[in-house]
Amino acid sequence: MKGYTVQGDRILVTGGAGYIGSHTCKALAYAGYEPVVYDDLSNGHAEAVLWGPLVKGDVRDVDRLASTMSAHSISGVIHFAGLIEVGGSMRRPDLYWDHNVNGVAAVLSAMRQADVSRLIFSSTAAVYGTPAQPGLLSETDALGPINPYGDSKLAGERMIAASCNAFGLEAVALRYFNASGADPEGQIGEAHNPETHLIPLAIEAALSGQSLTVFGSDFPTPDGFCMRDYIHVADLARAHVLALGLDRIDGGFEAMNLGRGVGASVVEVIEAVGNACGRPPLHTIGPRRAGDPPMLVADPSRARARLEWRPEFDDLQTIIDTAVAWRRDRRFGVTSALPNAA
Ligand SMILES: NC(=O)c1ccc[n+]([C@@H]2O[C@H](COP(=O)([O-])OP(=O)(O)OC[C@H]3O[C@@H](n4cnc5c(N)ncnc54)[C@H](O)[C@@H]3O)[C@@H](O)[C@H]2O)c1
Repeated sequence: MKGYTVQGDRILVTGGAGYIGSHTCKALAYAGYEPVVYDDLSNGHAEAVLWGPLVKGDVRDVDRLASTMSAHSISGVIHFAGLIEVGGSMRRPDLYWDHNVNGVAAVLSAMRQADVSRLIFSSTAAVYGTPAQPGLLSETDALGPINPYGDSKLAGERMIAASCNAFGLEAVALRYFNASGADPEGQIGEAHNPETHLIPLAIEAALSGQSLTVFGSDFPTPDGFCMRDYIHVADLARAHVLALGLDRIDGGFEAMNLGRGVGASVVEVIEAVGNACGRPPLHTIGPRRAGDPPMLVADPSRARARLEWRPEFDDLQTIIDTAVAWRRDRRFGVTSALPNAA
């Protein structure tokens, strides 16, 4: 069975109607692959499915997944579908385990049935939890999620690694740091509802004049605000295409961080949003949230070496400019009321 994929192959993209999935479909199409989106549209947008067919289905439905893989002669799978909110996972851990863990189990069973052997999995920096010390996080650092969302993604990684051992699957888990920005050509962008990510919330605040609450200004960071590693969604998308084409996956399973390796604080984000929008977002400072690590910044050297991947959008202002351009001329999605949270 061939593990790697080549141009012309059809790739099943679960969650391909969502934010990162739709950008990856565009990158796949430009690299000569044919993306087939599998999504229940619970949080995605049919308007974002522009580069191949959309199969509407639940990722926990093994039979439908397997028959879709066979019907479309799928050669590889990129699995994005799942629930993504840390706060939501604290309120409904059962739902997160159901969609995110049972979803992975179903994808693995269907791949086995349909004889598909290459899988790229959307993982997250949340698998690291709160780092023991400041610094760049590498894949060899301790894993210890601090919320059910992170637990469910780490459980997914472990189930995939075990399946690589058990039945010859080859998989890469890509641990994204903070996905941000939008398609530079403006076709697709971030349209979560509800939105919980800082950049789109800050843009909404700047454009609407509503106020944003920032949680904590007393972190042990240079300016006292949380620092995160913002990576452009088109750079994330390209990394998936490169991982699909790897001709060898060490030990059958590899995990790789995807970030720029540069931290930006909440205040730096707010300033960059203000520059892009022409006026700064109003914001107030609230108390820290439980479980917010001061700093989450990737050491991306493994992905750089293994995928020969470098972020093309290597500057926070440019990343945010693409997000603002999308928000000003958005082709789908609604503006939800700005929650008093960021
Ligand atoms: N956005 C980030 O910053 C970030 C960071 C790290 C990891 N991730 C991971 O990346 C992946 C994609 O995130 P996103 O921001 O694009 O989210 P998104 O909500 O925009 O996309 C997820 C897609 O999955 C679909 N979906 C959800 N449950 C489903 C189910 N049971 N069956 C079929 N489809 C289902 C939704 O309709 C949606 O289109 C997720 O797995 C997430 O955990 C995201």
